[in-house]
Amino acid sequence: MRHLLSAADLSREEAITILDTAATMAATQSRAIKKLPALRGLTVVNLFFEDSTRTRISFEAAAKRLSADVINFAAKGSSVSKGESLKDTAQTLQAMGADAVVIRHSASGAPHRLATSGWIDAPVVNAGDGMHQHPTQALLDAFTMRRHLMPEAGTGAGLDGKRVVIVGDVLHSRVARSNVDLLHTLGAEVTLVAPPTLLPIGASTWPCRISYDLDTTIAEQAPDAIMMLRVQRERMSSAGGGFFPSAAEYSRRYGLDAARFEALPGHALIMHPGPMNRGLEISARAADSDRSTIVEQVGNGVAVRMAVLYLVLAGNEGTPS
Ligand code: CP
Repeated sequence: MRHLLSAADLSREEAITILDTAATMAATQSRAIKKLPALRGLTVVNLFFEDSTRTRISFEAAAKRLSADVINFAAKGSSVSKGESLKDTAQTLQAMGADAVVIRHSASGAPHRLATSGWIDAPVVNAGDGMHQHPTQALLDAFTMRRHLMPEAGTGAGLDGKRVVIVGDVLHSRVARSNVDLLHTLGAEVTLVAPPTLLPIGASTWPCRISYDLDTTIAEQAPDAIMMLRVQRERMSSAGGGFFPSAAEYSRRYGLDAARFEALPGHALIMHPGPMNRGLEISARAADSDRSTIVEQVGNGVAVRMAVLYLVLAGNEGTPS
C-alpha cells in the first residue's frame, strides 16, 4: 500500500490485512513496554489544516509507538496564515525529511492532490478531507465492530451479514461516506437514516439502504451496531445554510434518546466517531452505557493507525511481533 486516501480504494483483502495488522499492534499495546522498533529512523509529519483531537493525537501516538520521529504541523500559527500554499508547505516539510505525511484538510481532494502532484515523494495518509473521506476512522470503526460482533472469527474475517445503521448528518460526514464504502467491502449491510435535507445528492447510488425514519429502521433492521453522526453545525454555517430541521426537531426525530436506546437489540453496539453533541444526536444515557464503544473506538484508533503507518512505510517487511 503506497498511500491511504479513501476507504473506497481498499479491496476486501487490503482492508482485512489492515485490520489483522491492527490486531497484532493492539496485542503489543497491553505489554509493559509498548514501543516497537519498526519505524526507527523514519519521520512522520502530521499536517493538520483543520482542528482535531482524536485523529491528530492518535496518529502521533501511533508513530511514536513504532519509534518514528514525529513533526506536528498545525495551520493555525503557521505561514499558512500568510498565504503559503499547500504545495509550498508540503515541500518545506519534505525538505525537513518527511518519510510519510498524514494530512487533514477542509478541502475534499487535498490528500489526493498531495499524493499525485509530484510535490513530495512520500506516502500520504488521509486523516479527513472536507466532506469526502476519513478512511482511518472507518477502519477503526470496523476494527471495533469486528472485535465485538465476530469474536470467534479471528484474523481474516470481514463483517459479513452484520447490520449497521448510520444516523444523522450524512450530508457533511466524511465518516459516513468512508464507513459505507468500507462496511460494504467487508460484507456488512448498511442503512443510512437521515432527514432528506441532510442526505447528499447521489446517496441513492451508494451501496446501502436509505431511510428517513429511525424508529422504523430500528424495528425492522434490529441492528448489530448503530453509529450516530455528529451534527456538523460549523459546516452548515460556513456553507451559508441554516440548521434545518431545527435542533429540537432533529433530536426528537433522529436523536438516540432513552426510548430508542431501549428499542435496540440488547447486543447492539452504540458508536459515535466523536466529538459528540450530547443531548442533540445522542443522549448521555446511550453514550455512557455499557454498550457504548465510543471511548474504545478512540483507543482502537491508535492500533489501526499504527497498522496503516507500518504498512505504508515498511509493509513488505512482514508484520512485527
Ligand atoms: N473522529 C474524529 O475525526 O475526531 P477528531 O476531529 O477529534 O480527530
